[in-house]
Order: sequence, then structure tokens, then C-alpha cells
Amino acid sequence: MQHLIDTNDLSDKQIANIIKDAKSFKKQLPPALLKNKLLITLFFENSTRTRSSFEVAAKRLGAMVVHLDPSKSSTKKGETLSDTFENLCAMGPDGVIIRHEYNNTPKKLANKELTSVINAGAGNYAHPTQALLDYFTMVEEFGDDIKNRTIAIVGDIVSSRVASSGIRLFKRMGIRVILIAPQPFMPDNNLEKYENLEDIIDEVDIIMSLRAQLERHKAPIFEDYNEYAKKYCITKERLGDRNIMVLHPGPVMRNIDISDEMLEDSKCKVLEQVKNGVFIRMAILKCLLLDS
Ligand code: NCD
Repeated sequence: MQHLIDTNDLSDKQIANIIKDAKSFKKQLPPALLKNKLLITLFFENSTRTRSSFEVAAKRLGAMVVHLDPSKSSTKKGETLSDTFENLCAMGPDGVIIRHEYNNTPKKLANKELTSVINAGAGNYAHPTQALLDYFTMVEEFGDDIKNRTIAIVGDIVSSRVASSGIRLFKRMGIRVILIAPQPFMPDNNLEKYENLEDIIDEVDIIMSLRAQLERHKAPIFEDYNEYAKKYCITKERLGDRNIMVLHPGPVMRNIDISDEMLEDSKCKVLEQVKNGVFIRMAILKCLLLDS
């Protein structure tokens, strides 16, 4: 039984196949490869893109999808998450796609070996399908030349599971990763770090902007995010005529993370990431439920 808790659950060959399949699905939708498969989505945190993207991906492949809304489920009557999960597994799904505020929830459930568990975002630890769709979007632009390119991750890095999973995957793929953030948003690791994008921007090929994860801050970190934006908002002015690709996992805080004008620019691939998310999740579901 193959799970996806983080991208290190996948071999190099599996990652290469996922990218290849996503590319081919984007060119032409495949037949219903997952006909008669059943997936259950269980999202304990809000989601716009990830949940609908998984559902669209599964349905594009002919699978059935059932969504359990935890706010209306028996977790509200005191049932434990473990019991909720085991009850869902008794219905015989081929996979459960879960998002949860705790870093170790998907792993704990996967260890029961009842169904394939797919992590759709856990705490600030991992969001593997986002990392893979971001990597796919970069590979589309740079091809094999992606190795040795430089990505600058800008924003609330310490709270971000997108950053954690991204950093692990991008480093593995030979990409140089630089972190740009004010001190309270900076994680403790041995990557290259800068407080100002300007200090390193000439070496950057890709910028990944991140939202301040206010819901994960125990106390407010900045009083005024407009002040923060003066230094960290990705604007056309900041990029100048440099050919830098701009990514963001969404939701974008307009004019704090990325300016309105920059969001309209062809260098900004935010909606391309969303489009690619469907194809990469189709490829991931195929990998986990058919190929493994
Ligand atoms: C992110 C998440 O929930 O981890 N969004 C996403 O899945 N695309 C990022 C965020 O909430 O800021």
C-alpha cells in the first residue's frame, strides 16, 4: 500500500514518471484509468484549490469522490479522528486524502495500513502535492535546465508547509534554494538566508511568494502588513526587467504578497500552478493507486 505523506515517500523514478504523466495528461486527457476507484476527502482545515483540485483530478480519471465535512461530522460529537478514519476505511475506499493542522496526523493514519493515505497539507510540515505541482511548473519553463537554477522563497517561511515540502523536493532536484524573510518568518536551518530580496535578486530565476499564515501565529507578529509589504511584496518595480518567474501557492493576499499589477504579468504563473495542480494530482493518483 503506497502512501504520500511527503515527497520522500516517492522514488526518483516515481517522481520522473509523475512529471511525465502530468505533461502527457495536460496535452491530452487520458481515459478513465481510475474507474471504480473510490476516494474520500477529509479536510480539517479550509481549502479552495487543493480540495477541488484533487476532486477534479480524481473525477477526470473516472474515480468516485466522497467528501466528508468535519464541521458537520461526528468529530463534533466527540468521535476521535482515529475512529472517524477507521469508520471511513470500513467503507472500502482506495484512498483517503487528508488535510489537518497537526504535522503528524497523515503519518499516524497511514501507519494503520487501512487505505492509501494522501497528505493534502499537514501543519507546517508537509504539502507534497503542492511541492510537486510547483516543481512541474518550473520544469515546464526550464526543462532539464532546472538543475542549478535558483529559487528565492519569500515570506512566512517558518509557518509554511508549502515551503517545507518545497525546500526538501527542490534541493533533491538540484535547485539552489534561498530564503528571504524578516527574522520572525525565518526558519532555523542551514539554507542561504537574506532579509532583503534586493541583496540577491540578480541571482534569482524563480520567486515563490508566501502568505503570512496568521492562523498559525500564536500572537500577531506584525501590526501592519502594509509596512511588511513595502519590503516583501513582489511588484513589477522590484523585478525590473529581470526575467524571473513568480509563483505563489494561493491564497494570495493582494498587494501584500504580490501586487495587482504583477499578478496580471505573464511572468506570474499563479493560475498556471492551479491548472498544473490538476494534472499533477491525476499523475499522483495514478502512481499511488495503479502503478504501485
Ligand atoms: C496553502 C496551504 O493550505 O498550505 N495553500 C494551498 O494548499 N495551495 C498555503 C496557504 O494557506 O497559505
